[in-house]
Amino acid sequence: MTPLSLVVVISGSGSNLQAIIDAIDTGRLHARIVGVISNRPDAYGLIRATHHGLPSQVVDHTHFSQRHQFESALRQAIDHYQPELVVLAGFMRKLSPETVQHYAGRMLNIHPSLLPRHPGLHTHAKALAAGDTQHGATVHVVTEVVDAGPILGQAVLQIDASDTPDTLATRIHALEHSLYPAVLQQIALGHIPRINGCIVA
Ligand code: GRF
Repeated sequence: MTPLSLVVVISGSGSNLQAIIDAIDTGRLHARIVGVISNRPDAYGLIRATHHGLPSQVVDHTHFSQRHQFESALRQAIDHYQPELVVLAGFMRKLSPETVQHYAGRMLNIHPSLLPRHPGLHTHAKALAAGDTQHGATVHVVTEVVDAGPILGQAVLQIDASDTPDTLATRIHALEHSLYPAVLQQIALGHIPRINGCIVA
Protein backbone atom coordinates (compact mmCIF):
# COMPACT_ATOMS: atom_id res chain seq x y z
CA MET A 1 0.00 0.00 0.00
CA THR A 2 1.44 3.37 -1.02
CA PRO A 3 1.77 5.84 1.86
CA LEU A 4 -0.80 8.62 1.88
CA SER A 5 0.90 11.74 0.51
CA LEU A 6 0.32 14.93 2.45
CA VAL A 7 1.04 18.61 2.13
CA VAL A 8 0.87 20.27 5.55
CA VAL A 9 -0.03 23.96 5.58
CA ILE A 10 0.91 25.98 8.66
CA SER A 11 1.19 29.51 10.01
CA GLY A 12 3.02 29.07 13.30
CA SER A 13 4.60 26.69 15.76
CA GLY A 14 3.72 23.56 13.81
CA SER A 15 3.39 21.28 16.83
CA ASN A 16 0.68 19.36 14.96
CA LEU A 17 3.05 19.07 11.99
CA GLN A 18 5.60 17.65 14.44
CA ALA A 19 3.06 15.16 15.77
CA ILE A 20 2.36 13.98 12.22
CA ILE A 21 6.09 13.69 11.48
CA ASP A 22 6.59 11.69 14.69
CA ALA A 23 3.64 9.41 13.93
CA ILE A 24 5.09 8.66 10.49
CA ASP A 25 8.58 8.08 11.91
CA THR A 26 7.30 5.67 14.54
CA GLY A 27 5.09 3.70 12.15
CA ARG A 28 1.77 4.88 13.58
CA LEU A 29 0.85 6.68 10.37
CA HIS A 30 1.29 5.21 6.91
CA ALA A 31 1.88 8.50 5.14
CA ARG A 32 4.59 10.77 3.83
CA ILE A 33 4.80 14.52 3.93
CA VAL A 34 5.68 15.70 0.44
CA GLY A 35 5.73 19.38 1.32
CA VAL A 36 5.21 21.94 4.07
CA ILE A 37 3.88 25.38 3.21
CA SER A 38 3.65 28.40 5.48
CA ASN A 39 2.10 31.78 4.86
CA ARG A 40 4.48 33.23 7.45
CA PRO A 41 8.24 33.24 6.88
CA ASP A 42 8.93 33.17 10.65
CA ALA A 43 6.78 30.10 11.39
CA TYR A 44 8.68 27.72 13.67
CA GLY A 45 7.13 24.82 11.80
CA LEU A 46 9.42 25.64 8.86
CA ILE A 47 12.41 24.89 11.09
CA ARG A 48 10.80 21.60 12.09
CA ALA A 49 10.37 20.75 8.38
CA THR A 50 14.00 21.54 7.57
CA HIS A 51 15.12 19.53 10.58
CA HIS A 52 13.35 16.49 9.16
CA GLY A 53 14.55 17.03 5.58
CA LEU A 54 11.08 17.94 4.34
CA PRO A 55 10.68 20.31 1.39
CA SER A 56 9.08 23.56 2.43
CA GLN A 57 7.95 26.79 0.85
CA VAL A 58 6.73 30.16 2.08
CA VAL A 59 3.80 31.82 0.36
CA ASP A 60 3.71 35.08 2.29
CA HIS A 61 0.24 36.59 2.18
CA THR A 62 1.69 40.06 2.90
CA HIS A 63 3.36 39.99 -0.53
CA PHE A 64 0.00 40.02 -2.31
CA SER A 65 -2.34 42.97 -2.47
CA GLN A 66 -5.38 40.79 -3.13
CA ARG A 67 -6.53 37.59 -1.48
CA HIS A 68 -7.19 35.83 -4.77
CA GLN A 69 -3.58 36.43 -5.83
CA PHE A 70 -2.28 34.95 -2.58
CA GLU A 71 -4.54 31.94 -2.87
CA SER A 72 -3.61 31.33 -6.48
CA ALA A 73 0.06 31.24 -5.43
CA LEU A 74 -0.85 29.00 -2.49
CA ARG A 75 -2.70 26.54 -4.75
CA GLN A 76 0.22 26.52 -7.16
CA ALA A 77 2.61 25.75 -4.31
CA ILE A 78 0.41 22.95 -2.97
CA ASP A 79 -0.28 21.45 -6.40
CA HIS A 80 3.42 21.42 -7.21
CA TYR A 81 3.73 18.59 -4.66
CA GLN A 82 0.66 16.71 -6.03
CA PRO A 83 -0.52 15.52 -2.60
CA GLU A 84 -3.47 13.25 -2.02
CA LEU A 85 -4.53 15.34 0.97
CA VAL A 86 -3.96 18.90 2.14
CA VAL A 87 -3.61 19.07 5.92
CA LEU A 88 -4.25 22.46 7.49
CA ALA A 89 -2.43 22.49 10.83
CA GLY A 90 -2.63 25.86 12.50
CA PHE A 91 -3.07 27.69 9.20
CA MET A 92 -4.61 30.99 10.23
CA ARG A 93 -6.09 32.36 6.98
CA LYS A 94 -9.65 31.97 5.85
CA LEU A 95 -9.79 30.37 2.40
CA SER A 96 -12.07 31.46 -0.42
CA PRO A 97 -14.71 29.16 -1.95
CA GLU A 98 -12.52 28.83 -5.05
CA THR A 99 -9.66 27.29 -3.07
CA VAL A 100 -11.98 25.15 -0.95
CA GLN A 101 -13.64 23.82 -4.12
CA HIS A 102 -10.26 23.12 -5.70
CA TYR A 103 -9.53 20.71 -2.81
CA ALA A 104 -13.07 19.51 -2.21
CA GLY A 105 -12.95 16.37 -0.09
CA ARG A 106 -9.16 16.47 0.05
CA MET A 107 -8.49 19.26 2.57
CA LEU A 108 -8.65 18.71 6.34
CA ASN A 109 -8.43 21.06 9.31
CA ILE A 110 -7.99 20.69 13.05
CA HIS A 111 -10.00 22.98 15.28
CA PRO A 112 -9.62 23.42 19.05
CA SER A 113 -13.21 22.79 20.13
CA LEU A 114 -15.88 20.13 19.97
CA LEU A 115 -17.50 21.36 16.79
CA PRO A 116 -20.20 22.36 16.11
CA ARG A 117 -19.66 24.12 19.45
CA HIS A 118 -17.41 27.17 19.31
CA PRO A 119 -16.33 27.68 15.70
CA GLY A 120 -13.93 30.55 15.05
CA LEU A 121 -11.36 32.02 17.42
CA HIS A 122 -10.98 32.08 21.25
CA THR A 123 -12.56 28.67 21.66
CA HIS A 124 -11.18 28.02 25.16
CA ALA A 125 -12.53 31.28 26.56
CA LYS A 126 -15.85 30.57 24.85
CA ALA A 127 -16.07 27.09 26.36
CA LEU A 128 -15.38 28.49 29.86
CA ALA A 129 -17.81 31.38 29.42
CA ALA A 130 -20.52 28.96 28.29
CA GLY A 131 -20.00 26.84 31.41
CA ASP A 132 -19.19 23.76 29.32
CA THR A 133 -18.11 20.70 31.25
CA GLN A 134 -16.45 19.16 28.21
CA HIS A 135 -14.15 20.59 25.59
CA GLY A 136 -11.89 19.13 22.95
CA ALA A 137 -10.61 19.13 19.41
CA THR A 138 -12.10 18.23 16.04
CA VAL A 139 -10.67 17.14 12.71
CA HIS A 140 -13.00 17.95 9.86
CA VAL A 141 -13.16 18.22 6.09
CA VAL A 142 -12.84 21.83 4.95
CA THR A 143 -15.93 23.24 3.28
CA GLU A 144 -16.95 26.75 2.33
CA VAL A 145 -18.45 27.52 5.74
CA VAL A 146 -15.59 27.93 8.22
CA ASP A 147 -15.31 25.10 10.81
CA ALA A 148 -18.53 23.47 9.57
CA GLY A 149 -17.37 20.62 7.32
CA PRO A 150 -18.02 16.92 7.98
CA ILE A 151 -16.43 15.77 11.23
CA LEU A 152 -13.91 12.93 10.93
CA GLY A 153 -12.77 12.65 14.53
CA GLN A 154 -12.92 14.30 17.94
CA ALA A 155 -11.01 14.08 21.20
CA VAL A 156 -12.71 15.10 24.43
CA LEU A 157 -11.56 16.31 27.85
CA GLN A 158 -13.41 17.26 31.02
CA ILE A 159 -13.09 20.91 32.02
CA ASP A 160 -11.82 21.30 35.60
CA ALA A 161 -12.85 24.12 37.94
CA SER A 162 -9.23 25.33 37.89
CA ASP A 163 -9.01 25.52 34.08
CA THR A 164 -8.20 28.81 32.36
CA PRO A 165 -7.97 29.50 28.62
CA ASP A 166 -4.22 28.86 28.91
CA THR A 167 -4.50 25.51 30.67
CA LEU A 168 -7.15 24.43 28.19
CA ALA A 169 -4.94 25.48 25.28
CA THR A 170 -2.14 23.28 26.62
CA ARG A 171 -4.41 20.33 27.33
CA ILE A 172 -6.18 20.57 23.96
CA HIS A 173 -2.89 20.79 22.10
CA ALA A 174 -1.83 17.50 23.67
CA LEU A 175 -5.10 15.92 22.53
CA GLU A 176 -4.65 17.28 19.02
CA HIS A 177 -1.25 15.64 18.73
CA SER A 178 -2.83 12.20 19.04
CA LEU A 179 -6.04 13.01 17.18
CA TYR A 180 -4.69 14.35 13.89
CA PRO A 181 -2.33 11.41 13.16
CA ALA A 182 -5.05 8.96 14.25
CA VAL A 183 -7.60 10.42 11.82
CA LEU A 184 -5.04 10.50 9.02
CA GLN A 185 -4.24 6.85 9.71
CA GLN A 186 -7.94 5.99 9.43
CA ILE A 187 -7.86 7.57 5.97
CA ALA A 188 -4.59 5.84 5.05
CA LEU A 189 -6.09 2.48 6.04
CA GLY A 190 -9.24 3.13 4.01
CA HIS A 191 -11.47 3.17 7.11
CA ILE A 192 -12.70 6.61 6.14
CA PRO A 193 -14.01 6.03 2.62
CA ARG A 194 -12.80 8.02 -0.36
CA ILE A 195 -14.01 8.08 -3.94
CA ASN A 196 -11.41 9.17 -6.47
CA GLY A 197 -9.29 10.35 -3.55
CA CYS A 198 -12.06 12.52 -2.09
CA ILE A 199 -13.50 11.88 1.37
CA VAL A 200 -17.20 11.21 1.04
CA ALA A 201 -18.19 11.83 4.69
C1 GRF B 1 -4.04 24.24 17.03
O1 GRF B 1 -4.57 24.45 18.31
C2 GRF B 1 -5.14 24.05 16.04
O2 GRF B 1 -6.30 23.51 16.57
C3 GRF B 1 -5.44 25.46 15.59
O3 GRF B 1 -4.18 26.09 15.60
C4 GRF B 1 -3.31 25.47 16.52
C5 GRF B 1 -2.05 25.12 15.80
O4 GRF B 1 -1.01 24.76 16.65
N1 GRF B 1 -6.10 25.43 14.31
P1 GRF B 1 0.38 24.26 16.04
O5 GRF B 1 0.91 25.33 15.10
O6 GRF B 1 0.15 22.96 15.34
O7 GRF B 1 1.28 24.11 17.24
